[in-house]
Amino acid sequence: ATAAILTTRRGLSSPATEQRVNIDLAKETGTVRPELHGHFAEHLGSCVYGGLWVGKNSKIPNINGHRKQAVDYLKGLIPVLRWPGGCFADDYHWRDGIGAAAKRPKDVNLHWGMYTEDNSYGTHQFIELCRLIGAEPYLAGNVGSGTPQELRDWMEYCNYPKGSSLSDERAANGSPEPFNVKYWGVGNENWGCGGNMTGDEYATVYRRFATYLRRFGETQPFLIACGPNGNNKEWTQKFWGNMRGGRPSGFAMHFYSNGRGNTATHFTLEDMRQQFASFPNIETAIVEQRALLDTMAPPNPRLGPVGLLLDEWGVWDRMDPEEEKKYGRLFQQITIRSAIAAALGLNVIHRQAGKLVMTNIAQMVNVLHALLLTDEDKCVRTTTYYVYEFTKAHLGQLSVQTESGAAGAMELSVSASRKDKDVTITLVNPKPDVTL
Ligand code: AHR
Repeated sequence: ATAAILTTRRGLSSPATEQRVNIDLAKETGTVRPELHGHFAEHLGSCVYGGLWVGKNSKIPNINGHRKQAVDYLKGLIPVLRWPGGCFADDYHWRDGIGAAAKRPKDVNLHWGMYTEDNSYGTHQFIELCRLIGAEPYLAGNVGSGTPQELRDWMEYCNYPKGSSLSDERAANGSPEPFNVKYWGVGNENWGCGGNMTGDEYATVYRRFATYLRRFGETQPFLIACGPNGNNKEWTQKFWGNMRGGRPSGFAMHFYSNGRGNTATHFTLEDMRQQFASFPNIETAIVEQRALLDTMAPPNPRLGPVGLLLDEWGVWDRMDPEEEKKYGRLFQQITIRSAIAAALGLNVIHRQAGKLVMTNIAQMVNVLHALLLTDEDKCVRTTTYYVYEFTKAHLGQLSVQTESGAAGAMELSVSASRKDKDVTITLVNPKPDVTL
């Protein structure tokens, strides 16, 4: 057990209050897998173009086109990276992004501003970035506007060692070694931008796609089905109600913490309270969706339970049109409020570690809850970046049961994990007028 001393900021002379948090080292709640600190990069705003990717001919220092400063900052911090979307994924055709850059077709990014996508950033560039920063790649496949053939071909292109036309094409494009991609999303938000389906309709489509997604090389693919928007139980029930055989390895829910009544830098205390109140709801959603999953798809004796992912999460405020014009769609300034929100979210994730296999904050650069912000040649680490940096000691450790005494959106939050005799504790104080 430990006690946190809370002091009001206006005058250290005012009496300090003590809040006890209980940490039960004997009650393990699961391993904090590295994938629980995962990230997401989409062709949206200046996340990829102008953010991560500046191109080989840029004056901005780069490694083969990847912004060097971003690579240096992200190296060792990103266990897994999801790409190319988001909504973009279900309108993305991977063949457009391979081969000589000058010959790649120009498409229209219909979800994020109808701008021309020149496809200069494609599969090889993404895999190269993952190798540079030490991240496990996670590809989100196109189900909404794609075909089973297109997705199975992408898998063969990436994972088949050599000798097939597609693997030889990969080698001719500069990568003789297979990419060995393990994580594959079979669509994204198929209840919305990924095809506007119902859970049972998507289950039928999922089964058709999954039939052709096989182990093409040494890597067994971990197939991830689209899960609910927030804690939508109807989606989960309908999907699993129509799922027989060939079930996915993972089921991915999305849960954003909206603050659409305010912008990232102009908000009231009540706006902040309302946004932070989403984190207890995320925790409830994880617990309830896990229970539903275990009822609808009981753990397989050989393969174990279906993994639950919190595939997209983070704060989503009302955008400032001037900032969006300058820095791209869904650009959000990152503040101390964002850092508190990230830390509250990570505490939920650590506490519920045993119920999750992966989580990805949205998104890594210049979009929503970003780790890095860029402006031309400048690249800064945000407060959210430091939250990930400060809390990475939990990764690989055993999460243990904690209680923070008081419940509520603005109360002290705690998570703890241990390894041998070392204990890592994260305490988050959301109260703006009280110091810890
Ligand atoms: O992260 C921005 C968007 O939010 C993603 O493209 C989509 O999956 C979600 O609705």
